[in-house]
Amino acid sequence: MAVEPVVYGASERPPRGDYARGGQVHSDYTCPQNYAAYTAADHDTYRRLYERQAALLPGLACDEFIAALPSLGVKDRIPRFEEINERLYKATQWEIVAVPGLIPEVPFFTLLANRKFPVTDWLRTPEEFDYIVEPDVFHDLFGHVPLLFNPVFADHMQEYGKGGLKAHGLNACEQLSRLYWYTIEFGLIQQKDGLRAYGAGILSSSGELQYSVTSLEPQRLALDIERVMRTRYKIDSYQQTYFVINSFQELFDKTAPDFTPIYQRLQGLPEIAADVRLAGEVLIQR
Ligand code: PHE
Ligand code: CO
Repeated sequence: MAVEPVVYGASERPPRGDYARGGQVHSDYTCPQNYAAYTAADHDTYRRLYERQAALLPGLACDEFIAALPSLGVKDRIPRFEEINERLYKATQWEIVAVPGLIPEVPFFTLLANRKFPVTDWLRTPEEFDYIVEPDVFHDLFGHVPLLFNPVFADHMQEYGKGGLKAHGLNACEQLSRLYWYTIEFGLIQQKDGLRAYGAGILSSSGELQYSVTSLEPQRLALDIERVMRTRYKIDSYQQTYFVINSFQELFDKTAPDFTPIYQRLQGLPEIAADVRLAGEVLIQR
């Protein structure tokens, strides 16, 4: 049975990625990495993306990310996922699996709960070198995979997957996806040398990496689970609010309690716009 292409939530953007590929996409949305489809130009675009982004990391990316980045292996071409898996599985028992693009909630949560991270296999066009809305192979590999080498973060990702399956049964995926957005995609962390980025959406973006850590425009708040779950987000601009943790252990511990009563409580509370600061909220200064 053929799988259906997927777009972001209520987005009108047409789906990206080849979900048909002669029946090669499995019912769990995984597929072989179509390595033969990459052109010399794709490998060159990846090499240039990697080179630019790696040079921006010092002083902006968290220490754990910088330490793990070399574990991705080759940087002058798109890596084969199996090459990364040899190292990743040994480190944290995680694996990456290829997918044709965005996938629905339940297959996504199920993969994470089984310590499998879905990586889109296609690469952006040269016109999208500076900014792309959809996740591509560069965002998924460079942004997400290094922290899967960190044991605490790796365990957190699995717990998120299990929590996603639970949230699905409670009709609370929107609340939980906001948590994903403001932590795993756009999270900041306070480290001994200052504020740093750990979110994949930031770490794979040349513009937002600098912006999120140093700009005076956005507000930065301490991570508060219920506040995050009420906060809307924009998928096609820099964030107006970032949430800050002090350690991955804090992220793990704050998300460990049963969210069921939280979801219930939030049903009666209004959403918060992406740029709003509530009375009494304290800004984190960098
Ligand atoms: N503790 C959450 C729950 O009970 C699950 C979860 C863990 C969600 C980690 C996000 C991250 O639903
Ligand atoms: Co992502």
